[in-house]
Order: sequence, then structure tokens, then C-alpha cells
Amino acid sequence: MAKNLILTGFMGTGKSRVGRLLSEQLGFPFVDLDRVIEERQGKNVQQIFKDYGEPFFRELEHQLCVEFSKRSSLIIATGGGTLIPKENRRLFSGDSVFCLRASFEVIKERLSRNQKRPLAQNARELWLERQPVYDQIFHQLESTNGAIEGVANRIGRLFELDQLFERPPEGFYPIHIQRGILNRLADFIDWLGLGDSSLAVVSNPKILELYKDLLPKTAELIEIPEGEPFKNLDTVRQIYIQLLDRGLTRHDTLLALGGGVVGDMTGFVAATYWRGMNYIQVPTSLLAMVDSSVGGKTGVDLPEGKNLVGAFKNPKGVLIDPDLLKTLPERELRCGLAEIVKHAIIGDPELLEYLEQNPPFEKGGQGGFDWIIRRAINVKIKIVREDPYEQNLRMHLNLGHTFGHAIELLSDYRIPHGEAVAIGLVQAAEYALQHEKCEPQLVVRIRDLLSKLRLPVELPEGMTRKALWEAMTHDKKRKDGRLRLVLPRALGDVRVVSVQ
Ligand SMILES: NC(=O)c1ccc[n+]([C@@H]2O[C@H](COP(=O)([O-])OP(=O)(O)OC[C@H]3O[C@@H](n4cnc5c(N)ncnc54)[C@H](O)[C@@H]3O)[C@@H](O)[C@H]2O)c1
Repeated sequence: MAKNLILTGFMGTGKSRVGRLLSEQLGFPFVDLDRVIEERQGKNVQQIFKDYGEPFFRELEHQLCVEFSKRSSLIIATGGGTLIPKENRRLFSGDSVFCLRASFEVIKERLSRNQKRPLAQNARELWLERQPVYDQIFHQLESTNGAIEGVANRIGRLFELDQLFERPPEGFYPIHIQRGILNRLADFIDWLGLGDSSLAVVSNPKILELYKDLLPKTAELIEIPEGEPFKNLDTVRQIYIQLLDRGLTRHDTLLALGGGVVGDMTGFVAATYWRGMNYIQVPTSLLAMVDSSVGGKTGVDLPEGKNLVGAFKNPKGVLIDPDLLKTLPERELRCGLAEIVKHAIIGDPELLEYLEQNPPFEKGGQGGFDWIIRRAINVKIKIVREDPYEQNLRMHLNLGHTFGHAIELLSDYRIPHGEAVAIGLVQAAEYALQHEKCEPQLVVRIRDLLSKLRLPVELPEGMTRKALWEAMTHDKKRKDGRLRLVLPRALGDVRVVSVQ
């Protein structure tokens, strides 16, 4: 059953005209909410405003939103203010919503032809006031220049793609998870509104060899060397130069196809090349799928330490195809699982229980990853939406990482990140047991689960706790003199604690 197609936007942006055209094209009935109110009240909107005031009108609008959000297969043009209240937008959150935009000059000219609109006098103030809310709507269509037929055709196409891809929660970007979906990459890019720009795909030779054939034929391919040692400013410079050579500008689109290394660097280039351009994440490792592709942290390493240069830059969208994990080496898969366990401890007890009962390696297969990926990402989304710039809550995602980074450092990066995080999770839990009232049972569960997932839980031979603490204290000197640890107390309850 098709959902409703909702057209919204400021007065004079062409909602009703586009709606009627779409109704002819798609064969769905057209409903203009203002006209429904007028028919039911027996007077026009201007008269209703005059006789009963705006709040009365808004309440009628709200009642209509309640009524029509329960229907399907309708094309609905809202009034300009209908979706300004959050509760009305929420009612239509399962539907395909399109926001029509036009420059104020065009709107003014269109309004001058129709004197019956009650709020037309304060149009400029109202227009400015409503922009931030309209900005929250995922699909934006410009109706300033193009013929109305072109706008309707484009909406028809996007409506079709809405049946394929998951729309994002308001104010966030889409993250679509589906096996085999890399085949539809070109459609995903079009759906994001980036289909008209040139596309450059950044990846490493190994991944390109495996997946090049699934990329749009017109994409520029930018190959970078594989591995963490190349996550640095030299490689970033190589990408800049290749983009310049191929004539790409800020109006074009970058796409990261790879693990966290490719993703972090591509995001950093997208944040800085031509002062910023759009980019898309197509993560290929489990770690990148559940962690690094979401949240907008981008950057590179310096010889002095990891991720010391970077920027916050959100992707326009993330496309996750769990089928790509079939070619990922098992050790890398396990590294991703360590981050998933971390997410489960922070915010999803049910995921932890699921992993305990269905450890993905126990039965030898790699089935079940789709659900696990979705749940783990949801923990991260919830946190980064609330605290995008790591002022407080986002620090929770560093659970096990202060220990983990020190372990990586002491091992000269021979222990991969995910394995170091696994040991770090156990270290954090054991420290919390001694000093921060962590539930003893939780320490046992973390240890057992990581072992079941065939991840290391002990410090490597020759690495002492004393050395670990010294390495962490060294880290402390570079911050504000205090070592902050993220420690678990119970499942779903982790805290940031300052340690002397
Ligand atoms: N930005 C963030 O929020 C964030 C979060 C966590 C980690 N990170 C960063 O992510 C990086 C680690 O990411 P990673 O674990 O993905 O490492 P990675 O990018 O080095 O990938 C691991 C290895 O797997 C290979 N690979 C990836 N996908 C494959 C596939 N489908 N088939 C075959 N081989 C494949 C890669 O070529 C590489 O050799 C680190 O640099 C870390 O700092 C960033």
C-alpha cells in the first residue's frame, strides 16, 4: 500500500498546481487541505481567520492532519503553516513529504496576483521564520525557475525511490541498510538529490578490484593506498590533486567506498576541498558500517598520534550493503564486533543478549548481520543526534577506547583497533568493578561474550597494567591534565569519570 505524497512549502510555491499534475500522473486523488477546511466551514480561509482567529484555524488544520495521516495513496497539498508544528510533521512521518521552495522575489510576485491570502501582508517575516523548519524536510524541490511539469516529474521519481530507500528521521541523513543494495547506488545518489553532480569515488585497490563493477560507469575513481599507515595528510593531498586534475568542484560529490580509513579521509577531503562538498559513505567493513560511517567525525593521523587532524562533516547519506562483508577477512569482522559489543553495553541490552545467544561465529556463518548492524547503528544515531560535537554524551562512545588506544600504541599498532577495544572494554569494566560500583555480573558477561566472539580479553604478553596506565597518563597530559575514563556501571549505564 503506497503511503501519501505530501506537498508542503511556503504560500506561492506551487503546491496545489504541482499536486493536481501529480494526481493526473500517478492516478491518486488530490486533496488540498485549505480547500477541505473551506468546504467544511462554508467560508474561505481569509474569512475563518477574520471571524475566529488563527489558533482556531490551526486547530482545524491539526485535526485534518490526524484524519489524513491515517489514509493512504493520496496526494495532499498542505497550507504553508500546516507542517510548522512538530506534532503535525510527526503525523506524516510515515509518508513521503516534499518541500517546494522558491526565492522570496518569486513568491512576492505570485502573491501579488492573489489578494485572498490572510497572512500575505507579513509574508517576508513569515518566510524567514519558517525557513529553518522547512529545512528539516528531507526532499527539497526548487520551483523558482523550472516549469511546474518538471517539478512534478521529479517528485514522481523521488516518490518511487521512497518506496526503495528508508527516509531519515527529521533533521538527520538517511542510512539505508539492505543486502545487495550496492546495485542501486546510482538510484541512491539520485534520491539524495545529487544525481546531477559529477561523482568521484575514493577507495583502495583491493576494494575497487572487488566492487568496481557495481559503481556507476561515469564515476571518477580515485585510488589511495590501503591501510592505517596511509591515513595521513600526504594521502589527503593526493586526493585533492586528483580532484583538481579531473576538474571537480564543491558542486560535485565524493563517495567513500571502504573501511574506516577510506571513510575518515574521504570525509575530511569533503570537509575541506573547495571549502566543503557533499559526500556519501558506502562502508565496506563491519566497523565502518556500525561506527565510522555515521556521526560525521572525519580526519587523519599525524606521526604524533591518531586522528589528530580532522573536522565534523556529516555525509549526505550512508548506504550499507551487508553482502560486502562476505569478502571481509574474518579478523576484520571480529574487530567490527568489538565495536558492536561496545554499542550494546552503552545502550542496547537486547542486542547484547542476542549476541550472547547467537554469537555470529559460533555457527560458522555470517548470517544475521543486518539486524545486528541496524541495532548497533541505532545506539550511535541516538547519541550523535543529541550531542553531535562530543560535548558530553558522545564521550560514552569512547568506552574501552582510552585503554584501547594505549594498547594499540604499546603494541606499535600490531594489535588492530577492534582487538585493542575488546581488551579495553574488559579493562574498563574491571577498573569500574574496583572503583566505580560496576555490577560484578556485567564484567563477567563482557569477558565471556568477547571470548565467544573470539576476541582477545587479556593484555598481550609482556604488556603490564603499569605500562598501560603510564601510556594512558601520557594521553592525559595532552588533554587538560585529567584522565577521563568512560566506565560501565550496568548494562545501558555508562559514565564519564575523572581519574587522578
Ligand atoms: N570516524 C569515526 O567516527 C570512527 C569511528 C571508529 C573508527 N574510526 C577509524 O576507522 C579506522 C578503522 O576502520 P576499519 O576497521 O574499517 O579499517 P580499514 O579501513 O583499514 O579496513 C580494514 C581492512 O579491511 C579491508 N576491507 C574493508 N572492507 C572490505 C571488504 N568488504 N572486503 C575485503 N576487504 C575489505 C580494507 O582494505 C583494510 O585492509 C581507523 O582509522 C579508526 O580511527 C573512525
